[in-house]
Formats: sequence, C-alpha cells, structure tokens
Amino acid sequence: MRLIVCEHYDELSDRAAEIIAEVVKNKPDAILGLATGSTPIGAYQRLCEMNRKGEIDFSRITTFNLDEYYPISPENDQSYRYFMNVNLFDHINIDKSATHVPKGDAADPEAECRRYEAMLDRSAGIDIQLLGIGQNGHIGFNEPDRDLVTVTHVTSLTDSTIDANSRFFAKREDVPTKALTMGMASIAKAKTVLLLASGKSKREAVSRLLDETVTTDCPATLLKLHPDLILICDKDAMPE
Ligand code: F6R
Repeated sequence: MRLIVCEHYDELSDRAAEIIAEVVKNKPDAILGLATGSTPIGAYQRLCEMNRKGEIDFSRITTFNLDEYYPISPENDQSYRYFMNVNLFDHINIDKSATHVPKGDAADPEAECRRYEAMLDRSAGIDIQLLGIGQNGHIGFNEPDRDLVTVTHVTSLTDSTIDANSRFFAKREDVPTKALTMGMASIAKAKTVLLLASGKSKREAVSRLLDETVTTDCPATLLKLHPDLILICDKDAMPE
C-alpha cells in the first residue's frame, strides 16, 4: 500500500485529481472506476477545471460507477447518476453513453447486477478505481458482514449508512433501503485502487486499514490484498 498523508482536504483533492489525470493523459481510452459521496467532490472539481483548460481530454474515456441506490430514478437529485452528471459528466467532454452507473430504476435489480458485471467483464478492465470509505469501513455498498458477495449485487443498507446518508434527503424515511453495488472482487480487478479518506469520522476505519488484519467486518481491509493500492488521507483521518 502506498500511503499519502495530506495537510487538509484541498491537498487530498489535488493529489487525487493529479493521479487520475496522469492515467487519462497516459491512456486516452482509459477506463475509470468512479465513486460518489462527499469525499471525491474536490477531485472532480479539479478534473473539470483541467478539462476546461484543455489539459486533459475525456472524449475517449469510459467510466463505471461503483453503486446506485435502489429503487431510485436517474432523474432523482439524490441518485448517484444525477450526482455524477452534476459533479463531473456535465462539465467535461465525455461521451455520456460511455458513462455507466447501475440502473436504480431497473425492473429486475438482480438481472441489472448481472448485466453490469458482464459489462465490466467484457470491458478492457478498470485502470484506476476511485473509492471513498464509510465510517464503518464499507466500500461501495459492501457493508460489514460475516460473508460478502464478490460480484455486483443487490444489498440492504445498514442503519449506520442510512443515518450517514440521511443528511442528503429531506427525511430519514426517504433514504432508499437497498442499493446495487459492485462487489469487492469486481472492485479489486482494477489495476490501481485509489482510496480517499478525509475527516475525523474516518479515523477509525483508516486505523483498521493500517493494522495488519483483513476482515469482512471492515470491507476496506480487503483492499490491503490489492497489489496497487494508494491511500490518500488528510491529517484529520489519520490515526495518531
Ligand atoms: C459512494 C460509495 C460510498 C462512499 C462512502 C463514503 O459511491 O460507494 O461507499 O464512498 O460512503 O462517503 P463520503 O465520501 O460521503 O464520506
């Protein structure tokens, strides 16, 4: 694991954007694995800025997002499809048909997960997978559990995640209770995994990531098995 500790969130965002921009420059038809949530927003803003200045070109880039709530329509402003459009895709020269997010309005969610996993398998493979980390160590919507499903699947959100995500909804009851998520094995197929952690609330999860155990009770720890894991933390997220 390569660990980069930054002074603050702005520096973390700069570093993350630089690493992704490098991949895009070196491989104009790269495949990016993307995440939603608060943490990657700063990096997305910098990538938009670089694209606006003509420093990077997304015209041949393909993206796969990690997850989506279920059920939710892509027009719902809390959907991850909406989030990606507003925070990145609407501001860069990417072909929207090459941006993939699991369909939160699919009639058959299990079939949608199989379709998504097959599409990942048919692709040339994700070059860099950007990730945030849950306070409980979740990755995507792979929540702590005794057993984890390796591939894209339908899952139920834990109370802790519903609580954490309710800040974005009018009321807690509005948070969907299910999600479609790539599994830990789908994620680990990426050539490089770039994990971002910012703020004191992530300190415990980061501490588990930095100790020597691997456990499904903290799905992020499974990433320690990946041969090219980069963890960027700000000082607040870094255990003392
Ligand atoms: C987002 C995702 C989640 C978040 C995690 C951290 O696509 O899959 O696992 O990365 O919940 O969220 P933030 O960044 O809001 O703290």
